[in-house]
Amino acid sequence: MKVGILGSGDVAKALAAGFIKYGHEVILGTRDPAKLSARLAEHRGARTGTFAEAAKFAEVVVLAVKGSVAADALRAAGAANLSNKVVIDAANPIADAPPVNGVLKFFTNLDESLMERLQREFPAARFVKAFNSVGHAFMIDPQFKGGKPTMFICGNDEPARQTVRGILDQFGWETADMGKAEAARAIEPLCMLWLIPGFLRNEWTHAFKLLRQD
Ligand SMILES: NC(=O)c1ccc[n+]([C@@H]2O[C@H](COP(=O)([O-])OP(=O)(O)OC[C@H]3O[C@@H](n4cnc5c(N)ncnc54)[C@H](OP(=O)(O)O)[C@@H]3O)[C@@H](O)[C@H]2O)c1
Repeated sequence: MKVGILGSGDVAKALAAGFIKYGHEVILGTRDPAKLSARLAEHRGARTGTFAEAAKFAEVVVLAVKGSVAADALRAAGAANLSNKVVIDAANPIADAPPVNGVLKFFTNLDESLMERLQREFPAARFVKAFNSVGHAFMIDPQFKGGKPTMFICGNDEPARQTVRGILDQFGWETADMGKAEAARAIEPLCMLWLIPGFLRNEWTHAFKLLRQD
């Protein structure tokens, strides 16, 4: 697949490396492609471009920027370049405030997630929430004693969720499909939960797993 990643941070780089490892073509989108090219010399196979170039190139887009600028990055990518594309949304709506007893603040509330806001502004894009509830170091081929961890996903478009499930299979995850976009109200705060042991006890090496009786 042709993958356009909007972002140049830890998540963008981890996912770029994973997509390349599994034979996909990647363009990383950033506001300053020249600067990023130099920094990304180690990511062999990933090209760099503007947000719009990455989105235009992509069959699958990955949104990997700060939640507070997610809409700006998508606007820079261009609604036409996102139209009908699967957009994997790894962004979390973390507010610019310090954690309280290890608990971060969000700029959204439990009745409206960031992904729902983005889906409303870009109705022709097919958003799927994924990769937001684990640290970037575990996104590709996670190895845990308890077996494969679970990635919770959601989004309004069923075939788009199937595409993301296929990517998660490749990257070594179990997928728990939570249905339509409203489920992002529950999936986005998993990032808060994931971060608490880190902030409280400097523990960063865990992931979630959904256990089933049958
Ligand atoms: N770090 C993790 O382990 C982790 C895990 C799960 C989910 N997440 C979520 O994934 C997202 C990315 O996290 P990250 O840690 O990789 O990176 P980050 O530091 O949150 O974001 C870096 C990206 O944000 C872009 N950006 C900053 N200001 C911008 C603006 N005004 N307009 C457009 N783009 C702007 C930067 O673009 P330029 O390239 O142009 O500078 C850069 O690509 C976040 O929403 C985070 O909550 C992070």
